[in-house]
Amino acid sequence: RAFLHRLWKGNVSSKMLNPRLQKAMQDYLSANKHGVRFRGRRAAGLSRAELLCALRSRVRVRTLDGKEAPFSALGWQKLVPAVPLSQLHPRGLRSCAVVMSAGAILNSSLGEEIDSHDAVLRFNSAPTRGYEKDVGNKTTVRIINSQILTNPNHHFIDSSLYKNVILVAWDPAPYSANLNLVPSTENPARNACWNSSASFPWYKKPDYNLFTPYVQHRQRNPNQPFYILHPKFIWQLWDIIQENTKEKIQPNPPSSGFIGILIMMSMCSEVHVYEYIPSIRQTELCHYHELYYDAACTLGAYHPLLYEKLLVQRLNTGAQGDLHRKGKVVLPGLRAVRC
Ligand code: C5P
Repeated sequence: RAFLHRLWKGNVSSKMLNPRLQKAMQDYLSANKHGVRFRGRRAAGLSRAELLCALRSRVRVRTLDGKEAPFSALGWQKLVPAVPLSQLHPRGLRSCAVVMSAGAILNSSLGEEIDSHDAVLRFNSAPTRGYEKDVGNKTTVRIINSQILTNPNHHFIDSSLYKNVILVAWDPAPYSANLNLVPSTENPARNACWNSSASFPWYKKPDYNLFTPYVQHRQRNPNQPFYILHPKFIWQLWDIIQENTKEKIQPNPPSSGFIGILIMMSMCSEVHVYEYIPSIRQTELCHYHELYYDAACTLGAYHPLLYEKLLVQRLNTGAQGDLHRKGKVVLPGLRAVRC
C-alpha cells in the first residue's frame, strides 16, 4: 500500500514497480515498434495552471474527416458523419464522467453518482448490465480499440453495447503519421512521394484492420455518430506526456483511458474520472467484468499508463478524500481555461 499512498501524492517512479513490469517497459523502449522519435522538449515541473494552459493550446480532438489521402480517394468525405466529434456539442456539456474498467470499481456503489453526470464515457466492452450499482447504466460515448471491431468474440455488429452511443475508435499508427499522414499543401514534392505506392503505411497495415468494419458499420448505421481518431491526435497526446515526464516513457500510444479523459476535457466544463488513479480498493483484478488478474492493467506495460496517471494526478482539483475513497479525480474542462 506504500506505493498507492505515493501515487496519490504523485510521488512515484517506474523504479518502484515490480521487476516484471520494469522489464516489460524496458523491452517496449528498445523495441520502439511504432518508430517514435521524440522531437519535443522536456518541460520541467509546470504548475497545474501552466499544464492546463499547455493542454488547452495543444489538444485538438481530431477524427478522420475523409479529406486526406488515402481516404479522400475512397469517398470517405461522404462516409464519415457530417458533424465532427468536436462539434457534436457546440456549446459544450456541463459535467461528464469517465468510467475506467478497473476491477477496483467493484463494491464502490458509485453507480448513482456516475449516472448523475450529463454524459458518461466508457471503454471497449465494459458492460453496465449486472454492475449498475457500482458503474451506473448511462453511456453517452464509448471509446473502442481496433480489436473490438475485428475480433468476432466482441460481436461488434450485434452487441447492444455498441448501439445508441457515440462510438470513437482508434488504432495505433506509426509515429511518423504525427508528421505527415497526409499530403502537405506547402510541399508538393513530398506529396509525390507520399502518393506513391510506398505511402499510407497505417491504412495498408493497421494493428487490426478497423477500416473495413468501419465502412460497413457506417453504411448500415448512417445515423449513429461513429468516428476514427486521427493518429496525429493520439501521438500529440503522447508528446505531451513525454514532455512533462522526466523518465523516458514507453514509445507506444497512450491508453484509451487517457485518450478518453482528454476528449471529455475538450467537450465538458468539468470531468469526473473514476478509478483511473486507484482508490483504496486497488486490486490486480484487471477489469470489473472479467476474472483476470494483472498489475499491468493498472500500472502499464505497453501503454505509458503510470506516466499518464502521474500527469492526471497533477491536474486533479478534487478532494483527496474523494481520490482515496472513490478513486475520483476532478478535472476542469479546457474551454474555460484562461491562459
Ligand atoms: O482495458 P481497457 O483499455 O479496456 O480499459 C479502459 C481504460 O481504463 C484503460 O485504457 C486504462 O486507462 C484504464 N484502466 C485502468 N486500470 C485498470 C483497467 C483499465 O486504469 N485496471
